[in-house]
Amino acid sequence: MRVTIFGTGYVGLVTGTCLADVGHDVVCVDIDQAKVEGLNRGAIPIYEPGLEPMVKANHAAGRLHFTTDAAGAIAHGDLIFIAVGTPPDEDGSADLKYVLAVAQTIGRHIERPVIVVNKSTVPVGTADKVQASIAAELAARGAQVPFDVASNPEFLKEGDAVNDCMRPDRIVIGAANPLAVEKLKRLYAPFNRNHERIVVMDVRSAELTKYAANAMLATKISFMNEIANIAEKVGADIEMVRQGIGSDPRIGWHFIYPGAGYGGSCFPKDVQALARTAQQHGYGARLLDAVESVNDSQKGHLFELIQRHYGGDVRDKTFAVWGLAFKPNTDDMREASSRRLLAQLWDAGAKVRAYDPEASEEAQRIFGEREDLVLCDSARAALADADALVVVTEWKQFRSPDFVRVRQALADAVIFDGRNLYHPDEVEAADLAYYGIGRGRSI
Ligand code: UGA
Repeated sequence: MRVTIFGTGYVGLVTGTCLADVGHDVVCVDIDQAKVEGLNRGAIPIYEPGLEPMVKANHAAGRLHFTTDAAGAIAHGDLIFIAVGTPPDEDGSADLKYVLAVAQTIGRHIERPVIVVNKSTVPVGTADKVQASIAAELAARGAQVPFDVASNPEFLKEGDAVNDCMRPDRIVIGAANPLAVEKLKRLYAPFNRNHERIVVMDVRSAELTKYAANAMLATKISFMNEIANIAEKVGADIEMVRQGIGSDPRIGWHFIYPGAGYGGSCFPKDVQALARTAQQHGYGARLLDAVESVNDSQKGHLFELIQRHYGGDVRDKTFAVWGLAFKPNTDDMREASSRRLLAQLWDAGAKVRAYDPEASEEAQRIFGEREDLVLCDSARAALADADALVVVTEWKQFRSPDFVRVRQALADAVIFDGRNLYHPDEVEAADLAYYGIGRGRSI
């Protein structure tokens, strides 16, 4: 099928590439000329495992095109996806300016019936706004072209996005017109093998499904972080508690890992946006507000542990920080817990030697040159001349360090483990003090 995708960010690029990979003819449009030129040369703007070879192969095979020519791209697609960003507004609601700008462009250029599909994470009711924008543009030029607006939210995890896209656990289609449903079902047929993954519903339910999924996952994390804080107070070990509850299938093993708080471009933004939508409809979403506020304090928790250890004075101390990205397998630092920690350490007069396997460039871009930050080339290099180690992101390569070596490197012989990667006994056996999250027994 002929598909057009507006936006070559992480969602648009991964979706477009996967659709091309199963044989569809995909044109990706972006207003960023440099990005489009780069993509046409095979330069992938994001780090996402497995994506680069797929983009190159499908581009070479002539199934995946990148352009800034919106009119040409609109003429190409029977299905036109909107996958542009929805950054948070000042009040936490999703800013729709990019989505609606695309809708206007579509309205200005369509000449034949199309199905417009919203893939961006947008508040309930956005499809109606997209519909109205397109209709207004058509009316302005006196054109009458039938079109539908459907909602088809994405459930991609950064770092595993290609896999999520190629092997989805569900495909949510929200559409009023049965013809639109049929077309989207045909589009996704190659991903819908062996058992039914497609869930068809009305547009508003599809829009809400996306927020509900992310809000539920964020709730699980904040819940565990809260229990971890209680564990710390009462002298229990959250890792034992986690193992004690995860085997109940009603609870499950996923997303019950306490840590330094959730970050990224989705959870923080989506929880706030859903709370805001609720508020706009006269409902105060107390649980969502609590999920957000627990996460906000959790991002400061590592620093609290550090302060506790040092009796409130970390001036001129040097901290080795392992991990800057908001989670492993990405270079994304949006809303990353590391950013809060670094800001707090710097405010308190401490210095940082940081290492992240992928996010150094991004860190350089965010923080620029500063005396109190050294970005290192390896985990070991970060330890050199440091007083303490703080683990912020659970990259695999941080899982089993040589603790004796770590002990030799660190002047103050202490590890703050923001992701509970280590067993306290193992760390303490190397004569290192250990602080984890929710590990009351070691505090
Ligand atoms: C999230 C969802 O998991 C995807 O399903 C969704 O499609 C995506 O948002 C989106 O809306 O686009 P993502 O933000 O890539 O994906 O990252 P996650 O793997 O969900 O992790 C989010 C944060 O939660 C990370 O900072 C991670 O460290 C933290 N986390 C995760 C925990 O602290 N504990 C856990 O048990 C799990």
